[in-house]
Amino acid sequence: MTGRSFRIGVLPGDGTGPEVVREGLRVLEAVRRLEGFEAELVEFDLGGERYLRTGDVLPDDELARLAEMDVLYLGAVGDPRIKPGILERDLLLRIRFELDQYVNLRPIIRYPGVQTLVPSHSEDDVNMVVVRENSEGLYSGAGGFHRKGTEHEVAVQESINTRHGVERIVRYAFELAMQPGRRRKVTLVHKTNVLNFAGDLYQRVVNEVATDFPDVETDYAHVDAACIYFLDQPSRFDVIVTDNMFGDILTDLGAMIQGGMGIAAGGNINPQGVSMFEPIGGTAPDHTGKGTINPLAAIGALQLLLVQLGEVEAARRVTAGVRFACSKMHSMRAGQMGYSTGEVGELAVEGATS
Ligand code: IPM
Ligand code: MN
Repeated sequence: MTGRSFRIGVLPGDGTGPEVVREGLRVLEAVRRLEGFEAELVEFDLGGERYLRTGDVLPDDELARLAEMDVLYLGAVGDPRIKPGILERDLLLRIRFELDQYVNLRPIIRYPGVQTLVPSHSEDDVNMVVVRENSEGLYSGAGGFHRKGTEHEVAVQESINTRHGVERIVRYAFELAMQPGRRRKVTLVHKTNVLNFAGDLYQRVVNEVATDFPDVETDYAHVDAACIYFLDQPSRFDVIVTDNMFGDILTDLGAMIQGGMGIAAGGNINPQGVSMFEPIGGTAPDHTGKGTINPLAAIGALQLLLVQLGEVEAARRVTAGVRFACSKMHSMRAGQMGYSTGEVGELAVEGATS
């Protein structure tokens, strides 16, 4: 990164990934020109197609090249022809782990005019951000089989929670809660009534870190109760901090109170390293190649990416673009938008450049 010139690694990936990334890059080009920074796009051929063609998922030299970028922009990975788990673990999770992208940042925002399954929510009710731990927990891969394939088979899947890992994610959440526009409240979401080791560690760390942030209110909700509050009382949340698995599940529910997977964006962040931004929906095989997929989640991911690069004015423009597109569209759902993928991209450009 030299001055305002950035090397952006682009991973279009599989399924509808390339279609939504194309629209995101169109918006990037428009705001980049207006705000006057340079972006060198470096495309990476990673995903199901490459795996089927060559048999490799993420060679070490490709990983090393990813680590040289200023930031990464991912479409989606996954392929119905490939056994579930291979691309998820060896590509997506490997990048998150090896680049130590320990924060999975998932804003849950209700844009004006967007229909959701909970029509009683107002724009003000739904304005939170989930800070999902992204480097350990049940995702660590610790565990194993014993007597596999027999009647006495045992499968152990362990949740690894380190003091270092918990403390850095909790600190990130508190610092975020102090940012302008946030309401200075951190809610720990866990299951301390049952998970008495991992939950205890999280709660103690929250209590300790809170003493460094006297202006931030702290709260706690069990993860099952948090699901109820998402539907019933989302305004109680500002910043949520939670572990990897709970954060995964909760943010899909979060996407639905935003209007669907078509609008939900996230970032895998290493505050000191290379971060990767992505729409949180998958590859949508039913919509691939039809021009029916919603690109706003990918465009929202671009907004987060620009914030990470410090291009806040460009990011503000992208938000304006997303809001403008939302105000015109019938629905966030693929195939029901009232516009094609490319037309939604054009609306976003219009809103971002006016
Ligand atoms: C997500 C996805 C991934 C996860 C899968 C594809 C490994 O569901 O980004 O939320 O579980 O983290
Ligand atoms: Mn998920």
